[in-house]
Amino acid sequence: MGSVIERGLLKMLFYPISNLIEPSALECEHIYSLFDLAKRFKIFFQKRESIPLLQGMGIVNLFFENSTRTRTSFEVAIRQLQGNVINFSLGTSSVQKGETLLDTAKNLLAMAPHAFILRHSASGSAKFLEKHISVPIINAGDGMHAHPTQALLDAFTIQEKIGSLEGKQVLIIGDVLHSRVARSNIIILKKLGAKITVCGPGSLLFSNAYFQSFNIHFTSQLEDVLPEADVIMVLRMQLERQNRLQVPSCIEYSHFWGMTREREKILKKNTIILHPGPVNRGIEVDPEVIDGPRSMVLEQVCNGIVIRMAVLGSICNPSGVTRWLEKKTE
Ligand code: CP
Repeated sequence: MGSVIERGLLKMLFYPISNLIEPSALECEHIYSLFDLAKRFKIFFQKRESIPLLQGMGIVNLFFENSTRTRTSFEVAIRQLQGNVINFSLGTSSVQKGETLLDTAKNLLAMAPHAFILRHSASGSAKFLEKHISVPIINAGDGMHAHPTQALLDAFTIQEKIGSLEGKQVLIIGDVLHSRVARSNIIILKKLGAKITVCGPGSLLFSNAYFQSFNIHFTSQLEDVLPEADVIMVLRMQLERQNRLQVPSCIEYSHFWGMTREREKILKKNTIILHPGPVNRGIEVDPEVIDGPRSMVLEQVCNGIVIRMAVLGSICNPSGVTRWLEKKTE
């Protein structure tokens, strides 16, 4: 990890990536390169102007799990780069007749797409597919394991709102145990120099050996850590990944760990609040807080499009991106 100045210089260069399975595979220069690209793409997106970087390319949106934000924003991102979206509908697909993930992917690969975007409930599914499929795989969330584009869009949103992440206090609250968003965010935010505190009930905090070296502060006492936070990341209670509720009740969870209006009063003036969505209103966060001025949820959604444009452009057409950047700086 270089100094702040070195990182600032790296920001001006383009470092393409060949796929996106694990956030740990991204170096700082890749992350800043994606942020720089996303920032440039955002100007075009806000003007409703498309950029011809995926012309003639087909990208498969292969979602085996429900999604609103990720699936739709990838679709908008592909169209914004003038590519063709090949949508796969799980409910009407032959997966319902027993076809496997691999057979599904191989059959779609025979239709000559340029990349797959995969969401699946099995941790490791993106890595598994990468071994068998000859085109790039973009992980759009695999089980509890990783959600790299979410972490990139979260870090991009934070940087856009409060500047460099170096030394910033990021407090992650809630169901960390089941959260691919938390795992990926910890990896990306640490690479960018943030300090991480994780808070929640003991039953929902992980004791993953991998994170021992990350110097994370774990606590269950929310009031102790709220006043220090520059950024609060509220996680969704992931009931679909719990065999049974792992706290006595949602009311009790909200009482001790909910981001309530009362708790909002002890935050610093400029603390921002992120949530990956979908929100369980009244459980992990009060409606007034998530709809309030600190909330970045809709900025996160908008930034999700431009970050995914940057990821797609970087993976599917790096030489086109280089030429586009050269043209812009002429
Ligand atoms: N944040 C996120 O992954 O939301 P979706 O499940 O709606 O895609």
